[in-house]
Amino acid sequence: MAKIIDGKRISAEVKDECKERVKREKLDITLAVIQVGNDPASTVYVGNKKKACDYIGIHSLSYELPEETSEKELLELVEKLNSNDDVHGILVQLPLPEHIDEDKVIQTISPKKDVDGFHPQSVGALSIGQPGFVSCTPAGIIQLLKRSGVEIEGKECVIVGRSNIVGKPMALLMLRENATVTVCHSRTKDLKEVTKRADILIVAIGKPKFITADYVKEGAVVIDVGIHRNENNKLCGDVDFDCVAPIASAITPVPGGVGPMTIAMLMNNCVEAKGIQEA
Ligand code: GUN
Repeated sequence: MAKIIDGKRISAEVKDECKERVKREKLDITLAVIQVGNDPASTVYVGNKKKACDYIGIHSLSYELPEETSEKELLELVEKLNSNDDVHGILVQLPLPEHIDEDKVIQTISPKKDVDGFHPQSVGALSIGQPGFVSCTPAGIIQLLKRSGVEIEGKECVIVGRSNIVGKPMALLMLRENATVTVCHSRTKDLKEVTKRADILIVAIGKPKFITADYVKEGAVVIDVGIHRNENNKLCGDVDFDCVAPIASAITPVPGGVGPMTIAMLMNNCVEAKGIQEA
């Protein structure tokens, strides 16, 4: 039976380190959080981000804008926050309403305040090994692996999913850690053949319980990024935990695996943002 990689414990560790650093260095940090409209899932995420800020000692400024907010109004707010030296991080919760161009909004956030790591400059820096903010979920997965004692260097890593937020930055981070990296997606032929090569299998495809035991090599480390709610209101991931856990050497559960790491790494990025702006 696989070792369970405890994202709750590891995220608490990361948050406590941030909290300690904020206290020790007497850091005065402010994160601006913008939500447009009232998508219920976004409201939960934004609430959790604000709670984490409170816990660590980071000020959060909350902008809850109505669904009808125009793109121009949102861009003006982002620009105002860019030029406010008292604001160190800017987070625009996605998805945005359809009439707003997400890419345009992301590109307007100052790369120095891009704590989500979504700005093309942040992504470009990651791809050429330069310092910059890293997208929180993949950065959190690296922490899960390292803090669980999983060696990455020289390992075969297969990533299922190629999104800008998870799959692509994940591939770049695993390359940076000297893994051999393969990225699969919906058009990959013989997906099972490829995933079965993985020493470390990272799954972010958005399909509940898609990865069953026949996709997984005996002894692989399995990281599940998916989160879904089934008909009984129970949470599950992209991996069929019950059938994969017996053959994996380590696995993340859902809930309590990758999920809690995203916010912990956001907090870490806010602390880094303060450092960058004071430098
Ligand atoms: N929506 C879902 N996940 C995220 C995230 O990590 N950041 C932002 N800004 N929006 C999201």
